[in-house]
Amino acid sequence: MSTPALVPLPASLEVVDAAGLPLTAATAVSGPDSDLLRTLVATRTGIAPAGTSATTPTVTLAVEPGGAPESYRITVDATTATVTGADAAGLFYGIHTLVQLIRPAGDGWEIPAVVIEDAPRFAYRGVMLDVARHFHPVATVTAYIDRAASLKFNHLHLHLTDDQGWRLQLRSRPELTEKASATSVGGDSGGFYTQDDYRKIVAYAAARHMTVVPEIDLPGHTHAVSLAYPDLSEQPVISDHIRETVREFGGGMPENGTAYDGMAVGFSSLKIHDEATYAFLADVLGELAELSPGPYLHIGGDEALGTDAADYDAFVGRVTGMVAGLGKTPVAWHEAGTAPALASGTVGQYWGYITPTDGMDEKARGFVRGGGRLIMSPADAIYLDMKFDAGSPLGLTWARGVTSAQRAYAWDPAAVIEGVTDADILGVEAPMWTETVRTLDDIDALAFPRIGAAAEAAWSPAVGADPERTWESFRARVGALAPLWARSGIRFTALPGIDWARED
Ligand code: ACM
Repeated sequence: MSTPALVPLPASLEVVDAAGLPLTAATAVSGPDSDLLRTLVATRTGIAPAGTSATTPTVTLAVEPGGAPESYRITVDATTATVTGADAAGLFYGIHTLVQLIRPAGDGWEIPAVVIEDAPRFAYRGVMLDVARHFHPVATVTAYIDRAASLKFNHLHLHLTDDQGWRLQLRSRPELTEKASATSVGGDSGGFYTQDDYRKIVAYAAARHMTVVPEIDLPGHTHAVSLAYPDLSEQPVISDHIRETVREFGGGMPENGTAYDGMAVGFSSLKIHDEATYAFLADVLGELAELSPGPYLHIGGDEALGTDAADYDAFVGRVTGMVAGLGKTPVAWHEAGTAPALASGTVGQYWGYITPTDGMDEKARGFVRGGGRLIMSPADAIYLDMKFDAGSPLGLTWARGVTSAQRAYAWDPAAVIEGVTDADILGVEAPMWTETVRTLDDIDALAFPRIGAAAEAAWSPAVGADPERTWESFRARVGALAPLWARSGIRFTALPGIDWARED
């Protein structure tokens, strides 16, 4: 009997040498979230289990408080499968694990006999979607939420603003979307979320146990602000990097007051010494905090190459304080770890390499010294927009070239920054930047299967703590998900080196 192939790998899986549970139209399902399980089973198998609880076999779903947050237990034998969550999220994750267990048996389907005890390694398991470089409509965002939630991700970081566009309507500053949302990279059309759209995304995510983390990228990546509020923006700083990017990828030079549709970074800055900037940010961050029920508010802070270093430190210190004053926990990219006056407890997001370069690890340690923790997003492993293949038009290569699935997998969050252990790590997040990404199909092609590696880094036991936490095991397990992904409409890339299962 083959070992069930689960991603992310559970904390404990025991395969029982006995018959599994037959899954047929007569199988009964009872308990909370029965409809979710029925829908997922129907997607996977084409069968909608519609038995009554008097019939066997039976799948029983339950929540029994007492275990670790988000944990669950599954037991399966020939007559009953039981999924018990310690809370509603635990049950949700257990249901998704149960669906991954389903396999063909003869002419039908079965769930193999197992005992699974599972709980996450990290509390924060995130995916990020950049909706600024290319705008992505609500339907794309909700589809990505479903995909990520099925792999036990529980945070959706929305990169809502950048040089190329401002994507969230604000009552206090309506000019932002009126004047700075019309275009995307390459002159493609833009767009923005109305407040109702944003509320819909937040609610859709919450129903799948996912918290939205909104980001307003500051003080750089703010060219779009110059279209609406030219008085708040410094003139673009044109560096050799900008000239090189224009040579390689096209696009014009940034000019304040004109939409920027190129791919360069690091040229824009808000005015740091003008109090009008802070009045603007009080409106923007205040309204964002009101709209966002989650605990985190991300203030960016990356690649502020157009801002003087001392000004930058003062700015991120002041702005993280504003966010803390709104009752939210500030999050910032790792560069902000240089600021001596960072609000206590600010969370840092590390986007350097698996082997840190250029002092990025030291910047990240600044957050830990300030009483905060880290979200690990090593760019050369789990930036999902890095090319999976040099020949693909999708993706970029600046993070150490093409990122193979093996490289996406073969790292451990606690082995990146010396001195930073599990206790200092809030979690793991896989960003998707969208300079080359226009559609849900593009997102799927780049994210799948590498998103599975990120899920495993975020949820599963540490590398070395479980004999199955290896690339050899992962490539078999992730390949076994191909039929489930295909039937769920996920246009994954069948990368080489993975044993892709086929059914039919
Ligand atoms: C980043 O990739 N600039 C956070």
